[in-house]
Amino acid sequence: MESKLGIGLLGLGTVGSGVAEIILNPENRHPLVSDIELIGVAVRDKKRQRKISIPDQIITTDPLQIVDDPRIQIIVEVMGGLEPARSLIIRAIKNGKSIVTANKSVIARYGDEIASLANDNGVYVLIEAAVGGGIPIIEPIKQSLGGNQIKRVTGIINGTTNYILSRMEKEGAAFDKILKTAQELGYAEANPAADIEGLDAADKIAILSGLSFGGNINRADIPTQGINNLQSRDIDYAKRLGYQIKLLAISERIDSKESNKDSLPLAVRVQPTLISQEHPLAGVNGVNNAILIEGDPIGEVMFYGPGAGAGPTASAVVADILNIAGVKKLGGNGTQLDPLLAANSWRDCHLVGSDEIIQSNYIRLICEDSPGVIGKIGKVFGERNVSIESIVQFEANPLGAEIVVITHKVTQGQIKDSLNGIKQLDEIKEVAAHMGCL
Ligand SMILES: NC(=O)c1ccc[n+]([C@@H]2O[C@H](COP(=O)([O-])OP(=O)(O)OC[C@H]3O[C@@H](n4cnc5c(N)ncnc54)[C@H](OP(=O)(O)O)[C@@H]3O)[C@@H](O)[C@H]2O)c1
Repeated sequence: MESKLGIGLLGLGTVGSGVAEIILNPENRHPLVSDIELIGVAVRDKKRQRKISIPDQIITTDPLQIVDDPRIQIIVEVMGGLEPARSLIIRAIKNGKSIVTANKSVIARYGDEIASLANDNGVYVLIEAAVGGGIPIIEPIKQSLGGNQIKRVTGIINGTTNYILSRMEKEGAAFDKILKTAQELGYAEANPAADIEGLDAADKIAILSGLSFGGNINRADIPTQGINNLQSRDIDYAKRLGYQIKLLAISERIDSKESNKDSLPLAVRVQPTLISQEHPLAGVNGVNNAILIEGDPIGEVMFYGPGAGAGPTASAVVADILNIAGVKKLGGNGTQLDPLLAANSWRDCHLVGSDEIIQSNYIRLICEDSPGVIGKIGKVFGERNVSIESIVQFEANPLGAEIVVITHKVTQGQIKDSLNGIKQLDEIKEVAAHMGCL
């Protein structure tokens, strides 16, 4: 009888439990699920009550026992965090084991190093669950869209912030209030910084950029603005102007002035962004995620679905396990790897400076309610070649008058220069908000 493919789980929390549930219940699933066997599970605390019943003898608090076990061919890393996850992945690869991981933090920072080590050792590192939870997005970019030149990737890839923004828009409530209820309902972590400051989305767009454009970028260089300073008045004004505000992660190829012809210039950022009500991403609400890919020749294609949770994320993890199981069944046990499944960088990419990013902008100014101020603001923009799509004065309130400007597409350098000029005007009290606009 053919032996089963041995799986070692590092972590038995939300995702790990969901994965174990599928492996232990193969009925009515693809026959390959029956070809895999859970050999060992590492946890931090053996006494913790678990959602799933696992034989005690296969649970350990020593992850090295799993990573070094010769009966295991695939390590599923779902423990999270940078260390010891990264070191365990590296050790497992050196031991000749393939990796399936949901860990975007490790992959966004060390993905290149890990992928080339895996190639050298003839093993796979699959990461479908690291972006978009249950949404198939990694393998479609690597395999199904491989014939395209990708132009732009635009994603709502953090469910917590999308949930908060959706409720702020629906209820007109303040950020702090919605964050608190999101924490009570388990949609936001007790420490929500990684989500609300945009850091989680930056990890994910770093991964999507690398796959879409073929070359790694430096995660630390991604300009990142979260929703933690977003005010409900901006959501209200955006709505009155026909827009919604979403936390978008965007990566696009651009024509750069730079002389570096050997490396593809990319404009990448995470920021709250106004999108028109007709935009494909405008209907993505609550904890759902969506990724819109524009490519040549495909045009636009959008991937939509649950961005987190035990079931959806486990679905993605198990899909990766089955991909490896399928290749191994074909006899792929040597060091020859399927080049699409084992995707690796094939060119150099780099991020252009944030001043070079071109986009439309939403700007809210607080100023004295005096005649002629709109003309003066328009003049400052005009002198920097910034053309204005609309400029609207909303009702005066105790803060002063509020003026919202939407610009046409210009460089962020022009906007920065204009805002410096605007701040010099006597009537201007504050540049209260600046966001992107699609
Ligand atoms: N949750 C989601 O919806 C979701 C979605 C997409 C991606 N992810 C990613 O999936 C990974 C896991 O997330 P999760 O939500 O499942 O986390 P979680 O619920 O906190 O579970 C983490 C598990 O890892 C174990 N663990 C942590 N450190 C360990 C160590 N040093 N040695 C042994 N075991 C250790 C924990 O053991 P104990 O149980 O004993 O504490 C726990 O079982 C993360 O990288 C996360 O970013 C999660």
